[in-house]
Amino acid sequence: MKINNRLKVLGDLVPDNSVCLDIGCDHAFLDIYLEKSNRGIKTIAADIAEGPLEQAKQNIKREKLERKIEVRLGNGLDTYTEDINTIIISGMGGRNIIGIFKNNLKKIKNVTTLILSPNNYQEDVKRYFCKNEFYIEDEVFVKDKKFIYQIIILKRGNKKYTKKQYFFGPILLIKKGDLFKEYYEREYKTREIMLEFLPKRFHLKRYHLKQELKEIKKELEEVK
Ligand SMILES: C[S@@+](CC[C@H](N)C(=O)[O-])C[C@H]1O[C@@H](n2cnc3c(N)ncnc32)[C@H](O)[C@@H]1O
Repeated sequence: MKINNRLKVLGDLVPDNSVCLDIGCDHAFLDIYLEKSNRGIKTIAADIAEGPLEQAKQNIKREKLERKIEVRLGNGLDTYTEDINTIIISGMGGRNIIGIFKNNLKKIKNVTTLILSPNNYQEDVKRYFCKNEFYIEDEVFVKDKKFIYQIIILKRGNKKYTKKQYFFGPILLIKKGDLFKEYYEREYKTREIMLEFLPKRFHLKRYHLKQELKEIKKELEEVK
């Protein structure tokens, strides 16, 4: 089984000996990779839809891991049990991820680590969890084909972040590097295009876009 770079990088960030719930496992490639890594990680592969879960079961069977990887059908945290200390969600929209946890945070009191890779609304995801007793331990950019993804590692605890840290990511802002540059060059271009097409009457939105363009330009100038 060949795993893509995005899932491999994410998998390598999972703590050794953790008990993980992979919500939205789809094909279960990540769970198979984690099981085969021999790092003492137990994974439970969960999905809301029967089709992907059937695919997951077949892939797990092909790798002869049926007795190692448990598969659960259900919506979000309905598949959570108290033995789990790590939750992984990747390849879902940021607002969908927040929706899964909203009103359910008390239920996951045994969870110490969240590994999230939202497709969008990354800033909203960071704000939501950091206002709900998690802090950002690490952030990683990973490129797969032409896309650049963010992986966010959250741990239990409280930290305060500035608006700028939420916008760029507090750890990404320190690490910077080539993928930071590429990612924010794209973000810059996207905002330039939005500004070009946004009618003049949207004063506030135009103002915010201009501010963001200034901030991004400043940070990009500091990348070596
Ligand atoms: C695009 S796939 C991502 C698969 C894999 N995690 C990855 O990163 O490659 C999204 C999966 O999430 C599942 N999903 C969406 N909403 C869900 C929810 N509320 N609970 C569980 N699974 C969900 C979908 O059925 C789909 O299989």
